[in-house]
Amino acid sequence: MIIAIDGSAASGKGTLAKRVAAEFGYDYLDTGALYRAVALSLLNASVNSNNIDEKQAVNATLTLDLSLTQTAEIRTDKVAALASIVAAISPVRAELLALQRSFAAAPPSGKGAVLDGRDIGTIVLPNADIKFFIDADLDIRAERRTKELLQAGQSVMFRDVLADMKARDDQDRTRSVAPLKAADDAITIDTSKTDAAAVLALALSHIDRVGPSE
Ligand code: CDP
Repeated sequence: MIIAIDGSAASGKGTLAKRVAAEFGYDYLDTGALYRAVALSLLNASVNSNNIDEKQAVNATLTLDLSLTQTAEIRTDKVAALASIVAAISPVRAELLALQRSFAAAPPSGKGAVLDGRDIGTIVLPNADIKFFIDADLDIRAERRTKELLQAGQSVMFRDVLADMKARDDQDRTRSVAPLKAADDAITIDTSKTDAAAVLALALSHIDRVGPSE
């Protein structure tokens, strides 16, 4: 069973993906963490949005230390902003595609995989058994992200988080390569007024309808 969950920034897609994976004992891959890790390794090498070039981004992807995906350092708005720039570079995406597909084809549990991102249902796994597209109002998402970052000890202001998120959403939606959009066969869930438990219940009812969980 392969479940694809795409959606906008801080829409609740990661929370849903983790909970669905836990529910069935499937493995979860946060594909945004891959792009964030590439961005962090570039920032660590003093490459930023002003001086980045495609060759450096591709090189950082080819030599990516995957342990960076597990670090707290990737969870900043600065890293997210550069991740969105890096993610618009076609050869970077091509390089990360194989890794994502191998994970889905052979998840460690041997049971199933849940991947979340921007292009999982459209490009990475167009034949996924079930696809969700998660979205919410921008203000609500920016509020959630501000709270998350403050809880993680970062000093951020709602106004800046909102502006960064809007810029990143626009970039992710309008890029020519693998833009953020719902797959034609995705089930869309708006989480603006729905809490995580209710979103999970809704998703599980759809998964139930698709059939066997193995
Ligand atoms: O957590 P949040 O939704 O804010 O972001 P993320 O999922 O960690 O993704 C960070 C950035 O990586 C996004 O803004 C996208 O530009 C990029 N990304 C992508 O292009 N494709 C994916 N499958 C996942 C992330």
